[in-house]
Amino acid sequence: MSRKHVSHAEILQFAKDKVNLPKDKADEYRAQVQRLREKLEGYLFEHPDFTLKKMLLSGSLAKGTSLRSLNDIDVGCYISGPDAPTDVKKLLDYLTDRLRKAFPNFQPEQVKPQTYSVTVSFRGSGLDVDIVPILYSGDPQWYGNLVSQDDGSFLETSIPLHLEFIRKRKQKHETDFAQVIRLAKFWAKKVKSEREDFRFKSFMIELIMAKLSDQGIDFSDYPEALQQFFTYIARTNINELIAFADYYPTSKLGKFTEPVKIIDPVNAKNNASRLYTQQQANSIVEVALDAGDAIDSALAAPTKQDTVYYWQKVFGSSFQI
Ligand SMILES: Nc1ncnc2c1ncn2[C@@H]1O[C@H](COP(=O)(O)OP(=O)(O)OP(=O)(O)O)[C@@H](O)[C@H]1O
Ligand SMILES: [Mg+2]
Repeated sequence: MSRKHVSHAEILQFAKDKVNLPKDKADEYRAQVQRLREKLEGYLFEHPDFTLKKMLLSGSLAKGTSLRSLNDIDVGCYISGPDAPTDVKKLLDYLTDRLRKAFPNFQPEQVKPQTYSVTVSFRGSGLDVDIVPILYSGDPQWYGNLVSQDDGSFLETSIPLHLEFIRKRKQKHETDFAQVIRLAKFWAKKVKSEREDFRFKSFMIELIMAKLSDQGIDFSDYPEALQQFFTYIARTNINELIAFADYYPTSKLGKFTEPVKIIDPVNAKNNASRLYTQQQANSIVEVALDAGDAIDSALAAPTKQDTVYYWQKVFGSSFQI
């Protein structure tokens, strides 16, 4: 295997330059959310019966898996009380109304319902914050009914436990686990830009990586780790059941008939990939095979020009050395 031109170090450098959200940006966005959270806490202190109970950073910014191209900030908002609507459209209007009350210094047009979330827009700098409702009835582990951003259905799940689940794997591999996830997400984004109907949800990528970690795969060499990821998808046709025993015994797993079965690590009945069709699964396998082949070719290529050509097949033309 020739790694003369591109090896681990070059992929790491590419990640730092082009893939990762820079730390100062991540800190700025987290602080932005923190200010919103504190505002809600202040309002709750004055109005203890208020039904918005808590806001929690969720999504990639909470997990440390954000790409440089991050374009909104995901926050879950826990809503309790008997008058919270269970119809999604009504729930979003309800959440919008309550957020406008809790954040009186925002103009009404800065707090707006979207299809499955409510966005809070800041004047000037900062990204929009996307607030996702979670119907909550007091569970100590913060299980609640999260409105799916894919189809508006209610998903029983726990964001804090998801964060803990990811944190456990991150601890095993220092920075490498999150880095390989970001590289794979960058690849998926590049494929999406080329194929309009391609889908590969970030949460699914993370859970596949978590499975590889649990199988003992070492993430410290990035070309190798990416190759393992693509090989796993190609070998299993992405139709093998992926489940974890961290929060439930596998005997509790539901029966799943969907083509892709990547099960929520905190809810044995929730298939996080249930909306994927066989055709969508096939196209993930097809592009994973291509990416795996390209990495093989890149690692064997004799010249720098050839090597870059193959890595660009994986990451696109922004890959340069
Ligand atoms: N089907 C699902 N079941 C349970 N929880 C889900 C599901 N889909 C998303 N989530 C929750 O929402 C969080 C964010 O979703 P997702 O991973 O797709 O986006 P992200 O990490 O913000 O990535 P991106 O960079 O693509 O925005 C997940 O970490 C998980 O907690
Ligand atoms: Mg996100």
